[in-house]
Amino acid sequence: MDTNTRKEILKRGGTSIAWQGEPHLGGDYGQEEIDAVVNCIEASTAYNVGFGFMMEEIIDFEAAFADYCDTKYSVSINGAGSGLDMAMMVLELEPDDEVIVSALNFKAAPMAVIGQGAKLILCDCDPRTFQADPADVEKRITKNTRAIFPVHFNGMSAPMDDLLEVASRHQHHKHGEIQLIGDAARALGGGYKDTKIGKKGLMTVFSFHTMKNMTTLGEGGAVTTDDDHTYEYLRGIRQFGNETSGWGTNYKMTRVQAAVGLVQLSRLDDFIARRRAVAAARKEMLDGIPHLTVPYEPDDVTHSYYLYTLLVPQDWAGDKRDKLMELLREEYGVDTVVANPPVNQIPGVIAEATKGQQIPVSEELGARLFCAPIHPMMSQEDNEYICAALWDAVEKMS
Ligand SMILES: Cc1ncc(COP(=O)(O)O)c(C=O)c1O
Repeated sequence: MDTNTRKEILKRGGTSIAWQGEPHLGGDYGQEEIDAVVNCIEASTAYNVGFGFMMEEIIDFEAAFADYCDTKYSVSINGAGSGLDMAMMVLELEPDDEVIVSALNFKAAPMAVIGQGAKLILCDCDPRTFQADPADVEKRITKNTRAIFPVHFNGMSAPMDDLLEVASRHQHHKHGEIQLIGDAARALGGGYKDTKIGKKGLMTVFSFHTMKNMTTLGEGGAVTTDDDHTYEYLRGIRQFGNETSGWGTNYKMTRVQAAVGLVQLSRLDDFIARRRAVAAARKEMLDGIPHLTVPYEPDDVTHSYYLYTLLVPQDWAGDKRDKLMELLREEYGVDTVVANPPVNQIPGVIAEATKGQQIPVSEELGARLFCAPIHPMMSQEDNEYICAALWDAVEKMS
């Protein structure tokens, strides 16, 4: 983007919407979802029907979701936090068991490991993709490792085949096979090789929270699996136990959420295509920008662009990155977010559980990364403005 174009764009004024660094999925869903809600309420009014338990909409949604991910099963739930807990419960972890989790992460997966009383082991992340680094994962494996639990960072797939290969070279001393479980809360609709995210590994957990790639009235989630035993176990946990799980509670999605989920799922590929179009246009506009590294998308993945992750150079790490973010917010009205620094920097139980663990690459990346807003509804003009602001702000900081 040359200087004159940039000045012209900045002269037009700010973005038409005050995009947040991590925007909510609003604006572009409406009548179809509203009709689905109303139909559902109307179908539930008979005194002997109500909202029920496993109603038709829920069964249909689960079938459609499994079909989308090309898995044998999907289990709908009330959120990815519950799903990550459930995934750890299925493993029946014991206190010596270790679960390896990506260091650059939201806190939910580490919390799930801690919640089930196992040892949380962080792995370092690849500096280009921000995903769990298979070579580093392998170094962290011991005879106690039960699972590798990568996040599909910011909408892009983790290197699942490489992680499966690493897992296949080792055995847990009691349970044998080391399981691969994905946190795809932010990555629904992304692709990996010839699959959608959700196919590889024993289980994959998705979120339909209001910020995510699709939403079921603000909260919701699903777990996909191809494994019969895992499916029965997850179903038991979700609704007060069965023969497979023993214990259970209530993690169900409502009938109304499932009805909305069916509509959202039918629109998901369009949401993703539009996110990708914004990212592609942005990549062109940022071509040649000094100091910033734009997201890297390996040939074998399809990024869903849940977030648009940028990197400042090493000598801008920390304070200078933070000043750039401040400048973008104060002078240009462009909100950005650091998503996410290493989880061991979160004070409390995660920091306690991982004391002394070394993750130097992730620590450096955490001080360099920040995310510019991206959304399926973002106009070309708003995208242009964000790019012009990035160019201008970076040059001011140089
Ligand atoms: C990577 C990741 N995992 C898990 C979660 C938790 O999802 P939910 O809000 O559906 O419980 C989130 C939510 O932000 C997330 O970003």
